[in-house]
Parts: sequence; C-alpha cells; structure tokens
Amino acid sequence: MILLDIKNLTLEIELSGKWVKTLDKINLVIHEGEIHTLVGESGSGKSLIVKAIVGALPGKHWRITADRMTWRSQDMLAMSVVDRRKVIRSEISVIFQNPIDSLDPILPLGKQLKEVLPEESNSQGWLWKKKKQKHKMAIDLLHRVGIKNHELCLSSFPHQITNDVLQKFMIAMALASEPKLIIADDPTRGMEVNSKTQVLKLLSRVNQVRSTSILFVSHDLLAISSMGHFMTVLYCGQTVETGELRRLRKRAFHPYTQALLDSAPSFRKDLPPKSNLTSLPGTIPTLHHLPIGCRFGPRCPRARKECVTTPAVRKIHSHYYSCHFPLHWEGK
Ligand SMILES: Nc1ncnc2c1ncn2[C@@H]1O[C@H](COP(=O)(O)OP(=O)(O)O)[C@@H](O)[C@H]1O
Ligand code: SF4
Ligand SMILES: [Mg+2]
Repeated sequence: MILLDIKNLTLEIELSGKWVKTLDKINLVIHEGEIHTLVGESGSGKSLIVKAIVGALPGKHWRITADRMTWRSQDMLAMSVVDRRKVIRSEISVIFQNPIDSLDPILPLGKQLKEVLPEESNSQGWLWKKKKQKHKMAIDLLHRVGIKNHELCLSSFPHQITNDVLQKFMIAMALASEPKLIIADDPTRGMEVNSKTQVLKLLSRVNQVRSTSILFVSHDLLAISSMGHFMTVLYCGQTVETGELRRLRKRAFHPYTQALLDSAPSFRKDLPPKSNLTSLPGTIPTLHHLPIGCRFGPRCPRARKECVTTPAVRKIHSHYYSCHFPLHWEGK
C-alpha cells in the first residue's frame, strides 16, 4: 500500500522580488513497510522536501504546487492546517536535522517525551498510576534508543545534553506515537561513528520489527549503504533518479548518481583500502544562478547541447531517471 505519493511537487521562494524554483517537479512514493532513502549533496533541497511534506513552510514567500500530494490517499494540499497537523501528529513523526531547534528549551526532556506518549494506553486508573505508567514507558523508550542514563536524561533540559544523545532522544520522541512513517532528516550528521551506527541499526530494527516506513534523508551515501530498499537521488531541487537501492548501486543511469556512488568507498569494491576518493568537481549552483534545462549540466561529463532542455522522466520497470544521455545507453 502506498503511504505517501508526491508527483511534480514544485516549491517556489520569493527572492529579491523574483520567484525561484527551489524544488522543481519532485516525485517521491513511499510504500508501507519500506525504507526509502533520499540522497543529495548539501543544498540540494532535502530538508525543503521534508518541510513541504509536514507543512512547515508558512508565510507568503513560499508557493507550493503539486499534481499530487497524498497521504494514504488523502489530499494533503487540500487539508486544513488543523487536519494536516492531526494526521502528522498521529501518523507521521519527523526527526529534524537540528534536534535542539525542535525541542522546548525551558521544559525538561522527560516532560516533553511524556507529552507525546499516546493517551489511550494510559486512560485507565488513578492519576498517580497513569503517571507511573508514563514514566515507565518513557524509560523503556530511552532504553530502546540506547540512552543508558535515563533518569539524568529525563530530568535535563535540551541544552544540558550532548547532540548525539539529543538525536537519540528525538528518535525516542518519534517512536512514542507509534507512527506509520518516520521521516529522519540527516539524523546522523556530525555524529561520532558509534552513535551513527547505533542510530542506523535502530531505525532498521524499527522498520523490521514494527514495519514502520522510514524516509531516511542524508547527504552521506555511506550512512545509507547498510539500509534502504528504495533510493531517490536529488540534485539542486530536481529528482534525478529513483529505484531499488541494490539496482541503482549496480546500474545507475544518471551521471550524478554514478558520481555519488563513486565518491562513497563502500560502493566501490574495486578501491584498495585508503585510496583517494573520486569526488565530483565543482559545487551545486546557488538559487540565484540556476542553469537552464538539466541543472546538473555545468558539472556533467556527458552534457551536450540538448541538455539545455529539461530531461523528461523516463521509466524502466520501477527505475526512473531524468537524463537525455543516460549511462549504459551508448547507442543514444
Ligand atoms: N528559508 C529559506 N530561505 C531561502 N532559501 C532557503 C531557505 N531554506 C532553504 N533554502 C535554500 O534552498 C536550497 C535547499 O536547501 P535545503 O533543503 O536546506 O538543502 P539540504 O537539506 O539538501 O542541504 C538551498 O539553496 C538553501 O539555501
Ligand atoms: S541531461 Fe545532460 S547534463 Fe543532465 S545529466 Fe544527462 S547528460 Fe548530463
Ligand atoms: Mg538538510
């Protein structure tokens, strides 16, 4: 069953009186029980997609349009703000990139966690009993995410906790409401290796044990190499390729996907240990200087004059790509 279905999501921002397409015809489909990874360099628009899904882009400087944006067949763009919040609170949990920004700085973490625990499981009995039950549930959650010193964590304020522990705490918050989908926006950014591994294993386990779908957003291909059924690759606000992760690893069609794969050592079995990484020359263009047509053009080794027109999305089985001159199609 399809949970989230986004077709041609376009997001414009008003910059110095001009509307600029920060996201251009984004497609993303997430099925029940799958881990879908969304990958792209910093600045490619990953966090904007997350914010557009959960309606966190208020204000008149943003314009969102889409041919389709549904959650379990309900039209998200047609929902009132209140209805959308209700759906998001009960069925989608988001772990934002900077945990400290998502937490109330003046409330102890324990209080914040207990506030999101579902009421149904505590509806019976006396108040003191309910409180005790919630406290136990909070401790169980912290244990599940690998926070050992739970009492200290529950009584602390966000600024008193290290970033790695705070990110695990955010995962506990995300699990509390037993959502159908967890969106994790670069949850391992800046983490030390052990915590990173723990977080990745934890999310994989949640997916396996509870069939919770996960949209795992990352700039780091190594982080996703151990997880994920499907992968969507984003470049400068455009989806360039989508498909099963194992197929994309073997046979990417888009030159940008291939460049990303070549830059991650675990994807290159031929690389001897400690050899230099092949990295892509150049940087992602700024919103003020977007190339016309295929936005990857200025960095693409295969670019030709036809690339000044935006390539259409093409499909081979469940593999989608947008490129005029894809890899492995030398006859073109
Ligand atoms: N609030 C904002 N105002 C203006 N530009 C923004 C804003 N948020 C993001 N952007 C721009 O949109 C692009 C995509 O940003 P973002 O989604 O944060 O990228 P990513 O998460 O992939 O690193 C970047 O060029 C960024 O500068
Ligand atoms: S459309 Fe052209 S510029 Fe874009 S990725 Fe394909 S070959 Fe490169
Ligand atoms: Mg981001």
